[in-house]
Amino acid sequence: MGATLWVDMHYPFRPSFVHMTGKITILVGTMSGTAEMVADALLEAIEDAGVTGRILRMEKARVEALSAGGVWLVCTSTYGTGEVPDNAKALYAALGEQRPDLSKVRYGVVALGDSIYPNTFCFGGKRFDELLAALGARRIGERLENDSRSPTYPDDTAREWLEGWLETLRQSSDEADGAATEGAEISR
Ligand SMILES: Cc1cc2nc3c(=O)[nH]c(=O)nc-3n(C[C@H](O)[C@H](O)[C@H](O)COP(=O)(O)O)c2cc1C
Repeated sequence: MGATLWVDMHYPFRPSFVHMTGKITILVGTMSGTAEMVADALLEAIEDAGVTGRILRMEKARVEALSAGGVWLVCTSTYGTGEVPDNAKALYAALGEQRPDLSKVRYGVVALGDSIYPNTFCFGGKRFDELLAALGARRIGERLENDSRSPTYPDDTAREWLEGWLETLRQSSDEADGAATEGAEISR
């Protein structure tokens, strides 16, 4: 009984969700570490939900890994005048140049910025969002835009946002499940 309760509390999503989701990779673009701290909080919350996650800093990410599909969470700050941070530049440029087919990718965006830059607020995350969508990837849920001037800690804001995002991801997995079942029925 105790064991059942523990499973229910820590793995609120059905096995099909975990199966459909596979692993969630958090791609981190950061200059001074805030996005990395937020990614740590996201990973912890993902694992608390019974889903496998990992953090991948953008300078280590390869275009091929993205083209293979899966679920990705872009967590990036903004620098310069609305640019992606230095460690994200190579990946951003490679995606733009190689233009891989990302139709097997589902993704979310956690964008970090500062509203003192109203004309380029959270542009690092926005740029990735636009590029991934243009390459055929499907965004799950709304983008989170975190203002470093907000009185709330960015990791707390991100944890709260993730709850809704995981639920939307679960629904999108259910739709895919349903579509697969329908397809199977038609072909019978
Ligand atoms: C030199 C500099 C330029 C910045 N430019 C922007 C910008 O154009 N737009 C924006 O929304 N935030 C901008 N920011 C704010 C950062 O994106 C924000 O503080 C973020 O939380 C930093 O995250 P990080 O520590 O992960 O790099 C800038 C910050 C600095 C220091």
